[in-house]
Amino acid sequence: MQHPTILMQGITKIFATDEMETHALRGIDLQISSGDFVSICGPSGCGKSTLLSLLGLLDMPSGGSYQIEGKEVSGLSLSEAAFIRNEKIGFIFQSFNLIDELTVFDNIALPLRYRRQSVAKSEIEDRVMACLKTVDMTHRAGHRPNQLSGGQQQRIAIARALVGSPALLLVDEPTGNLDSRNGDAVMDMLCELNNNGTTLCMVTHDPRYADMASRKLHLLDGRILDSDGTPMQQHTTALRQVAAQ
Ligand SMILES: Nc1ncnc2c1ncn2[C@@H]1O[C@H](COP(=O)(O)OP(=O)(O)OP(=O)(O)O)[C@@H](O)[C@H]1O
Ligand SMILES: [Mg+2]
Repeated sequence: MQHPTILMQGITKIFATDEMETHALRGIDLQISSGDFVSICGPSGCGKSTLLSLLGLLDMPSGGSYQIEGKEVSGLSLSEAAFIRNEKIGFIFQSFNLIDELTVFDNIALPLRYRRQSVAKSEIEDRVMACLKTVDMTHRAGHRPNQLSGGQQQRIAIARALVGSPALLLVDEPTGNLDSRNGDAVMDMLCELNNNGTTLCMVTHDPRYADMASRKLHLLDGRILDSDGTPMQQHTTALRQVAAQ
């Protein structure tokens, strides 16, 4: 049997400081299969970025189980997690996170250079140039990110996320810093990637873009809501109660 790409069960995340605990995620059950396009919406502070950073192994959950392609990853050290992230996951951040000291080419090559098994120089070159072509930015390979427009920087961030051929592409507000024309162009690119088989999980505030997804998730106060607005967990609890009667 093929494992789902992503399987989260009862995932919680608590941020604790001396004064208080913030329950950012309160029991997330989520399954994402290969080729899905999932959008995540919800009010500010409901846990969207937290969920995305757990999905992308940038942080670890406080509780629950998280499997990627059948392998439990919730207990990994952050450096172990970084290896898996480099091989399986692409991340596109709202604020691009490009490194101004490096050229466009070297920014895109970065995930390949951090691979546990080193990638040959010629392969890096081929892959980077292929990704630059995908986002129509071949002519800017030698520029620095701060010499590019916002829309161009976002395209470079997309190329960097694609260079490792990720099984899963995680995207946080990809159009948040762009005008509507550049935003539409980025969404066209993401939809085309999904049509070609890349699994996508995207946080967005824009209902037009959320509607492009094959599955829409709504997050409220650290929980996923059902389509009728009821927290999923309440359904599960109610079903269990009915079954127990
Ligand atoms: N590092 C942290 N330390 C403490 N609390 C945090 C931390 N990161 C997030 N939180 C809290 O967790 C909750 C969820 O934050 P998160 O960033 O996931 O929200 P969000 O849904 O992405 O919001 P936005 O739409 O504004 O980006 C918030 O209450 C936030 O204050
Ligand atoms: Mg956020």
